[in-house]
Amino acid sequence: MTYCREQNIQIPESDLEGMSVDTLAVRAGQIRTDQLEHSSPIFPTSSFVYGSAAQAAARFSGEESGYIYSRFSNPTVQAFEGRIAAMEGGERAVATASGMAAILSTCMALLKSGDHIVCSHAVFGTTNGLLRRYMSKFGVETTFVTLNDLEEWAGAVRPETRMLFVETPSNPLCEVADMAALARLAHDNDALFVVDNCFCTPILQRPFDHGADIVIHSATKYLDGQGRCVGGVVIGSEPLMTEVFGFLRSAGPTMSPFNAWVFLKGLETLPIRMRAHCDNALELARWLEQKSAVEKVFYTGLESHPQHELAKRQQTGFGGVLSFCLKGGREEAWRLIDATRMISITANLGDVKTTITHPATTTHGRLPPEEKIIAGITENLIRLSVCIEAIDDLKLDLDRGFQALKNPSTGSI
Ligand SMILES: Cc1ncc(COP(=O)(O)O)c(C=O)c1O
Repeated sequence: MTYCREQNIQIPESDLEGMSVDTLAVRAGQIRTDQLEHSSPIFPTSSFVYGSAAQAAARFSGEESGYIYSRFSNPTVQAFEGRIAAMEGGERAVATASGMAAILSTCMALLKSGDHIVCSHAVFGTTNGLLRRYMSKFGVETTFVTLNDLEEWAGAVRPETRMLFVETPSNPLCEVADMAALARLAHDNDALFVVDNCFCTPILQRPFDHGADIVIHSATKYLDGQGRCVGGVVIGSEPLMTEVFGFLRSAGPTMSPFNAWVFLKGLETLPIRMRAHCDNALELARWLEQKSAVEKVFYTGLESHPQHELAKRQQTGFGGVLSFCLKGGREEAWRLIDATRMISITANLGDVKTTITHPATTTHGRLPPEEKIIAGITENLIRLSVCIEAIDDLKLDLDRGFQALKNPSTGSI
């Protein structure tokens, strides 16, 4: 495309080459109609029209490029895909209806019956359930291993292993996997290395720089950033994404144009939001470490975190999620949660509003008891998604919880 500033239709992607992820967050994947609107347009339409029957045929056969039907082609969705692919440094992205749809589409498109996955125990509970309960029905078995035990990963690989799947840092214990080592292991064994980058986003971590073949996001979290929509995305090389796109076109776990538009807007503020999340989470983690009622704090930014150095090598920030164990069990955890007044009791994370969760009875509640123990999901564990309220107000609200622990008869201060 010849770039003509007077017409100002699009910024060609080549003009953005080498630019920072902060710039790509607001400029990549931009589309502009003849109306020359400044904000991204939204195309809430299920289908597109053709000038003639011949043109319709050419579009369907692929002879002519252009939009056909929003199950698999929509300009707003494509704009979101272009922007997140540029930010992650991947060739192409395929947007999906949810983060789980992104994981399902990746598995369905790239694996077949008889293939084997190695996955860390420490993953989002529903990811575990999808692999354990549903992929196994179609002949794809999964072995779960300790996230930071490379020997266990290597020992679990079989001749039929075609995928290594990891979430780093993990949900909710913030364990960190050595991505370069896992990428080598995967590639030595002709397997794909897939990273769920939900907790860090491309602002804090770019898994392709460490050898990943595929990056997955639940866009529902930080990419949206204001808790409005559910969505997901898979990013990778053109040949791999052609396969994922083929599954999406046939099966239909598609992102809606409205959600894509919300995510496009969310991406524009992602860099500044992520920095605010990191600042508040680090301060709160240090504060929680000083509390006598707290047994342990899990946050990669703390020097006490066993993979703090690895996190510093792989990440440019430590993220907004932290967890902590109270002295006690479920009763103490619930009492602290219930005594907060401002922080939202909800399972979502990555919103601008701080949320508090009891993983053992919510996000990881459906894990079999033995899996819960292995994954470190104990009854005294609380997860915080630390967001952008004033840090002193977050401390004040959590202190209501700590007061309630001292004074169990009232349940609150
Ligand atoms: C790390 C991670 N991956 C994937 C998912 C699934 O995403 P969604 O809820 O958008 O399907 C979640 C949801 O919490 C998550 O935390």
